[in-house]
This record gives sequence, structure tokens and C-alpha cells, in this order.
Amino acid sequence: MALLLIMMAPLMHAGDQKSEPSLYNRLGGAYAIASVVDDFIERLLVNDVLNANPAIKSSRDRVPKAGLKFHVTMMVSEVTGGPEKYTGRTMKDSHVHLNITSQEWDAMVADFKVTLAKFEVPEKEQQELIAIVATTKADIVMSAN
Ligand code: HEM
Repeated sequence: MALLLIMMAPLMHAGDQKSEPSLYNRLGGAYAIASVVDDFIERLLVNDVLNANPAIKSSRDRVPKAGLKFHVTMMVSEVTGGPEKYTGRTMKDSHVHLNITSQEWDAMVADFKVTLAKFEVPEKEQQELIAIVATTKADIVMSAN
């Protein structure tokens, strides 16, 4: 028994030192991320604050939601450390025509939090995801109100 412990000690030590898994892996990989994105986009599509903006509404009616979910899933997968590669447009190019306001941004973040809570994403991972989304705000929000 003592010998076994001595033999295992280096392994246990290596385990302690192992770096934290990527956010992608902690979230559960592509299937879990796609499920979260699916729920989130369904919420956004019926969000009255967002649909009151005619540019958002008409874009939503024109752009197939399956494609939007695909692109957002690829983007989230890539930026959380997954093997996927996002091939869509930049955040500025894909949102500039939508005249998104700060108030609309806040409505989107509120929906995101509801989705994260529904999927019981742990607090730490929620904070990391919200921080990632926040980095895109300057490219997406075009007016203060
Ligand atoms: C209030 C906030 C947001 C609204 C109302 C919104 C709405 C939209 C709409 C309507 C489109 C389709 C645009 C078009 O093709 O005409 C779009 C595209 C997209 N959005 Fe957003 N969005 C928001 C925030 C975000 C955030 C925070 C992210 C990611 C962090 C994101 C990722 C994307 C991606 C990846 C696309 C697809 C780009 C492409 O097809 O090339 N969006 N968004």
C-alpha cells in the first residue's frame, strides 16, 4: 500500500498542477454550447424591446434563425477555446445596420442570464461568458439610448 502511494505521488502531483480545462470544455463542448445558443436566440426572437427596433425586426424576419444559431455557436465555441472556427462577418459588419442601443443591449444581456440560469451554468462560467460578450459591446452598440 505504501509502495502504491509512493508510485502514485508524482501522478497526484501532476493532477494538482494540471491547468484548468478550457471554458469550452467546462461548458460541455459544442453540443452544450449549441443548446445554450439555441435557447438564447429563441428568447431574443420574441423579446419585445428588441423587436420594437424596426431594423432588428426586419433583419430577424430575413435572416434564417438556424444560420444565426450556427454562426453564434461557432463563434462562442472558438472564443471559449474549442476547435471550431468562426467564419462569419465581424461584429461591426453584422450589426452596424441594426442601430442597436444600450437599452437593447441590456435587454439582450438579461435574456442571456435567464438562459444561463436555465441550463444551470455555474456562476464562475457565467461570469466568464458575460465578460466575453461584454468585449463585443463597443462594436455592436451604435447609440447610447
Ligand atoms: C442587442 C444585441 C444583439 C442583437 C439585437 C443582435 C442581432 C443580430 C441580428 C439581427 C443579426 C443578423 C444580421 C443580418 O445579417 O442582417 C445578427 C448577427 C450576428 N450576431 Fe448578433 N445581435 C446582438 C448581439 C450579439 C452578440 C453579443 C454576439 C456575440 C457575442 C452576436 C453574434 C452575432 C453573429 C455571430 C452574427 C452572424 C454574423 C454573420 O452572419 O456573418 N450578436 N445579430
